[in-house]
Amino acid sequence: MPSSLLISAENLKFINGSDFLPSFPNKTLLKYSKYTRTVSLMPKCSLSASSRPISQPRFIQHKKEAFWFYRFLSIIYDHVINPGHWTEDMRDDALEPADLYSRNLTVVDVSGGTGFTTLGIVKHVNAKNVTILDQSPHQLAKAKKKEELKECKIVEGDAEDLPFPTDYADRYISAGSIEYWPDPQRGIKEAYRVLRIGGKACIIGPVYPTFWLSRFFADMWMLFPKEEEYIEWFKKAGFKDVKLKRIGPKWYRGVRRHGLIMGCSVTGVKPASGDSPLQLGPKAEDVKKPVNPFVFLARFILGAIAATYFVLVPIYMWLKNQIVPKGMPI
Ligand SMILES: C[S@@+](CC[C@H](N)C(=O)[O-])C[C@H]1O[C@@H](n2cnc3c(N)ncnc32)[C@H](O)[C@@H]1O
Repeated sequence: MPSSLLISAENLKFINGSDFLPSFPNKTLLKYSKYTRTVSLMPKCSLSASSRPISQPRFIQHKKEAFWFYRFLSIIYDHVINPGHWTEDMRDDALEPADLYSRNLTVVDVSGGTGFTTLGIVKHVNAKNVTILDQSPHQLAKAKKKEELKECKIVEGDAEDLPFPTDYADRYISAGSIEYWPDPQRGIKEAYRVLRIGGKACIIGPVYPTFWLSRFFADMWMLFPKEEEYIEWFKKAGFKDVKLKRIGPKWYRGVRRHGLIMGCSVTGVKPASGDSPLQLGPKAEDVKKPVNPFVFLARFILGAIAATYFVLVPIYMWLKNQIVPKGMPI
């Protein structure tokens, strides 16, 4: 199976209701065609923290918890997290559908963190046209130290409530953050608002595992959307030409049953100027809002333990890739 695959939203077929393949014929589809059936596009995961099922507490999918998670993770992020889940090859593959064709594009890298994805963006776009936004000053402090990003604007802010005017940017990019947003639909609606007419949003994020143990830890940790949920959120926000490209580390040989922290790159084009046609109520969470310290601590510890499982998965897959002969499934 190829490590990346471009899929148009109009061509979706779903496998066992939890995964999907494109409807155009290729080797992958033929191999799995007996499992293929069409299912409803309705999202199965909740859109707000309060409506999460008890079996999917997603302890770190909260702003405060994510803030503290990155307070510690920022220390090792570039050295430990990226090599296992988000390599330079994957980043370039994921940014390709964003169509960064001109150095003069205005780009916002939302939840840009330490600037790893921004380094991929500034290969194509002048750094002075790029803004990195993140809610974590600790992550941003790392980005500020990177020579290639010296000319970028760096701002603290919330992906669900962006400090940019309507119709501002040519490209909205956000990699590896949607999983922490309490209300992903709101973040995608914001992506729509800040883009100019014809502008493109590109959200790179996790995909939900199908293997039971990986699913268990994913549900404890944070939001791992299903591919069809991304498409649904983009369409509801008003985006047109919505496409999803599958990505993954090379050494996984296309395996997706353990889920992926960076598993797809979803793009959509803004067809008209102004705000998104989607109406939502007020924002549910704010990183500055006080929370019950005991509830916070319990969620933080349990979520961080669950996250550890996903540090081990890429190591396990790397070992399997070394042991199993090339060309065989792993
Ligand atoms: C996995 S890191 C990704 C960083 C970077 N985009 C990259 O590709 O390496 C996730 C980032 O999302 C940020 N984040 C989480 N929730 C956020 C929110 N609501 N608003 C802004 N940033 C957020 C975290 O602080 C963290 O830096």
